[in-house]
Amino acid sequence: MLLLTVGIWRLASGDDFPQQLNVHGGEAIYKAACAACHGTTGEGTPKALAGFDKPTSFPHFNKCDETTPEFTRDYKASIRDGGPARGFSPIMPSFSGVLSSSQMDEVIVYLRSLCKEKGWPLGELNVPRALVTEKAFPESETVLTTTVNAKGAPAVSNELDYERILGKRDQLELAVPFGWVQKETGGMTGGLGDIAIGDKHVLYSHLNDNPDGPLYESTGSILSVQGEVVLATGDQRRGLGAGEPSLGFFAAYDQLLPGQVFIQLQPGIDIPRHTEFGPRTAYLRTAVGRSFAGDGELGRLWSPMLEVIGNRDLTPGTKTDWDIVPEFQVTLNRRQHIRAAAGYRLPLNDTAGRPKQVIAYFIWDWFDGGLFEGW
Ligand code: HEC
Repeated sequence: MLLLTVGIWRLASGDDFPQQLNVHGGEAIYKAACAACHGTTGEGTPKALAGFDKPTSFPHFNKCDETTPEFTRDYKASIRDGGPARGFSPIMPSFSGVLSSSQMDEVIVYLRSLCKEKGWPLGELNVPRALVTEKAFPESETVLTTTVNAKGAPAVSNELDYERILGKRDQLELAVPFGWVQKETGGMTGGLGDIAIGDKHVLYSHLNDNPDGPLYESTGSILSVQGEVVLATGDQRRGLGAGEPSLGFFAAYDQLLPGQVFIQLQPGIDIPRHTEFGPRTAYLRTAVGRSFAGDGELGRLWSPMLEVIGNRDLTPGTKTDWDIVPEFQVTLNRRQHIRAAAGYRLPLNDTAGRPKQVIAYFIWDWFDGGLFEGW
């Protein structure tokens, strides 16, 4: 009787796949449950066969540039709870009760195999962005970071960062700083800082298979290098720029550890054109954190992190300045492509003239949709 009631309820609710699908192996599951809409090669079925107009965000699982940056947890949320779970169309049905969690993981591994080109870094290696430390993964996103002095002379500095993936392994970065500082005569003055243009290049990336669970619990690592030119667009006399162009180089190495723990390392160097404007400086930035999500690991993502930052002038006899930044990042919308983070930067030594600061950012990963989509 109970079974009959459940059966009638399911028919009435229009569920297309009323029963648990007893098929195993990613490819077999895909053919049985997904190919009718997504096509045998993952490019989608023609409208005449599928019977629906494809939303502009319809995925092409065979296109590496579209699929490799995606997070497995986002795929799994759409499969388990249907498109609306990530702010997509309800044409994408929920497979909860049809596929078990491990069947979903199997079919995602199969989706991942439809990109036939090697060498694309996988989205799982895209660790949460820290407030100061730069990560290795190339992205297409816009980030606005604001830093405010918590004590001492009032100052507000902002940086608008535009990042765009170029092909398989590169990313363009354009950083536009602007801010307000206190004038010597009192009052505040504001303006543009030194604009930087850079290119990030991935040297190595590897994600280990995780036969016992989803890819987002896998381990792996990614290494990139970035070179940038900093232009003297800021007004040095007003404290908004260095006064002359400089070059910057850094490496970024991110490691995924078991238990969704991650470590980010970024050693780098800044080289002004003439040292009378300022010394060469070197830095080491590190961030350690972990991601937590409710709703069976697919809900809102919280990532507490701790950064340790060392800065040093490359002149004899100078000491390294150390800071720590406790912080967290959180996803704001259902699609999880709009995120925010906040933290507190605390100088540990040499604290004269180095105020405590509140730092916050807002990220829009426009690769995954518009600013107002997916809420
Ligand atoms: C009834 C047709 C239909 C079936 C059956 C179907 N899908 Fe979909 N799926 C869609 C549509 C349409 C979208 C695009 C939704 C959008 O972009 O708004 C989609 C989106 C997705 C996405 C989201 C991609 C992204 O960009 O994050 C994933 C993942 C997905 N489908 C996987 C599957 C899997 C795996 C199966 C089989 C277990 C499956 N789908 C079965 C129609 C379907």
